[in-house]
Amino acid sequence: MSQAAASRVQADLERLLPLLDAHLTAAFQQGEARRLAEAMRYSLEAGGKRVRPVLCLLAAEAVGGQIESALPGALALEYIHTYSLIHDDLPAMDDDDLRRGRPTNHKVFGEGHAILAGDGLLTEAFRVLADGPGDPARRLEALALLAEAAGWRGMVGGQALDLEGETLDHYDFDHLRLIHRLKTGALLRASLEMGAVLGGAAPDARQALRATGEALGLAFQIQDDILDATATDADLGKRAGKDAGRGKITYPSLLGLDGARKALEEATETALCRLASLPNRTSLEAWARYLAQRAN
Ligand code: IPE
Ligand code: IPE
Ligand code: MG
Ligand code: MG
Ligand code: MG
Repeated sequence: MSQAAASRVQADLERLLPLLDAHLTAAFQQGEARRLAEAMRYSLEAGGKRVRPVLCLLAAEAVGGQIESALPGALALEYIHTYSLIHDDLPAMDDDDLRRGRPTNHKVFGEGHAILAGDGLLTEAFRVLADGPGDPARRLEALALLAEAAGWRGMVGGQALDLEGETLDHYDFDHLRLIHRLKTGALLRASLEMGAVLGGAAPDARQALRATGEALGLAFQIQDDILDATATDADLGKRAGKDAGRGKITYPSLLGLDGARKALEEATETALCRLASLPNRTSLEAWARYLAQRAN
């Protein structure tokens, strides 16, 4: 990654993370179910790279929209993503004990509360988007995109195929791509398309951002698979080296590490090509390059 691209990503993070952090846990400060609120804050406050909300805000900016108008979408995306991680780590799914550098939610709060913390975050995502601020018609459209991407035709469906894949003897490349497109790609695609919609994009810019998100989403999960096979627990803040042991369907398991790296490069190039028609694309280009080279 060039120095200019690295500086751009750094500058975006310095600008956008404080805004996100100021709003992310605000909804979970008050309410009767204190321990549940604590469980939801625990996973949100553990950090994470905030890739989805940042991409949503940058997509809105790239089409000339205001950051504030995309903020409800950005928060909703991080709530859905954090819920998906809490449930992904449960004993009935990937059975993990480390996430975002901390013991997993169920290890601290118990399985029942971890399931409910996920449910609470999932529901809060739709409340925050329904409440606004911002243009109601755009928010309604973003809400429908989020429901499609997060639900059984998107992330939840992908997670089901991922689990079923653990016991498959044979699978092909199309099946691998399908799982990655659904379990991770759908929410990344929605991040960019929701940003476009909330920022008031023209149809062609919206389409370009949707296609960018599709390719970036695939690249993101390929890099996640590569890091599982090559990085350490300390690098990732989660357990590394688990996919092979669980028989997960991954890019390195089907194509080897070199093949996976080549597929990552191709998906990143596709994302950069899809962006090429947008006049205001410098940040998103820098992020596409950063995401392919990230170390955690
Ligand atoms: C991890 O996502 C799970 C996948 C969908 C690949 P991230 O790598 O974005 O996790 P955080 O948010 O930084 O913890
Ligand atoms: C998770 O994929 C995708 C989700 C929708 C949460 P992984 O199971 O590979 O994610 P990590 O590696 O545990 O973060
Ligand atoms: Mg998983
Ligand atoms: Mg997992
Ligand atoms: Mg993984």
